[in-house]
Amino acid sequence: MSDGQFDAAQGRLGSAGEHLRVDAPQQGSPAQPVLRLDALRKSYQMGTPLQTEVLHGISFALARGEFAALVGPSGSGKTTLLNVIGLLDAPSDGELYLQGTPTRMLEDAERTALRGRSIGFVFQFHHLIQAFPVLDNVLMPALVQGARRTDELERQGLALLDAVGLAAHAQKRPNELSGGQQQRVAIARALLTRPPLVLADEPTGNLDTHSADDVFALLRRFNREFGCAVLVVTHDPRLAQRCDRILNLVDGNIVSDQATTQTPV
Ligand SMILES: Nc1ncnc2c1ncn2[C@@H]1O[C@H](COP(=O)(O)OP(=O)(O)OP(=O)(O)O)[C@@H](O)[C@H]1O
Ligand SMILES: [Mg+2]
Repeated sequence: MSDGQFDAAQGRLGSAGEHLRVDAPQQGSPAQPVLRLDALRKSYQMGTPLQTEVLHGISFALARGEFAALVGPSGSGKTTLLNVIGLLDAPSDGELYLQGTPTRMLEDAERTALRGRSIGFVFQFHHLIQAFPVLDNVLMPALVQGARRTDELERQGLALLDAVGLAAHAQKRPNELSGGQQQRVAIARALLTRPPLVLADEPTGNLDTHSADDVFALLRRFNREFGCAVLVVTHDPRLAQRCDRILNLVDGNIVSDQATTQTPV
């Protein structure tokens, strides 16, 4: 097995995959949730003075290594919630703790740094940069945080591409790959910095069933291999049932929060 190759039979990365751990170790004590929301609210200004509240006081915690689905009707606030959790949008009230750090009062630079070291994003539209080769896209989260493009960093990026089955495509442009392949690149990119939390907003929304299964399986395998917590928005009940837990958001409220009955592998 080559460096970092994903061993489907073993369900884990090959030995060289262990080197992916060289990045900053995950912070916080094992008992501390990776994410905690305390009465979190979000309003949008819909023209003065009209304010519309989209999230109405959301509270829950996500443990280290937990794999949770966020489901709910269109317009219920799932993307809004993910954007607030991802520190891309500010809450209007309440508090959001990432790795135990309260985030509301952080300066912009601190918030950006915390986001960079804590969170990996996988979006419905993968947002790969078409002008750059696949490998450069995977390295992007480290480069934007100021990391130098060393041989070691490239080796880590290639090992991740290998793990998602795309090492041979490292020098291609993203638009030379299929939608499912591009989404696998986006997952490799999200994992590069070994974030303790991965946020995925309908990562399989644009994929056929087969590609959706592949992408979802990859998220699950990285979750088990690297121990990153995952919060994934999905409209697919079949995929939600493969998570440890399902949070149901309706009209900006979590109306149910239940463990699934799936048997752990
Ligand atoms: N930037 C914004 N300004 C004003 N209203 C917004 C903004 N973004 C979202 N909303 C509103 O917030 C509500 C929740 O939207 P959101 O995108 O979070 O829903 P969603 O659950 O992700 O839906 P979908 O399943 O269709 O993606 C909607 O009523 C939407 O119109
Ligand atoms: Mg959405």
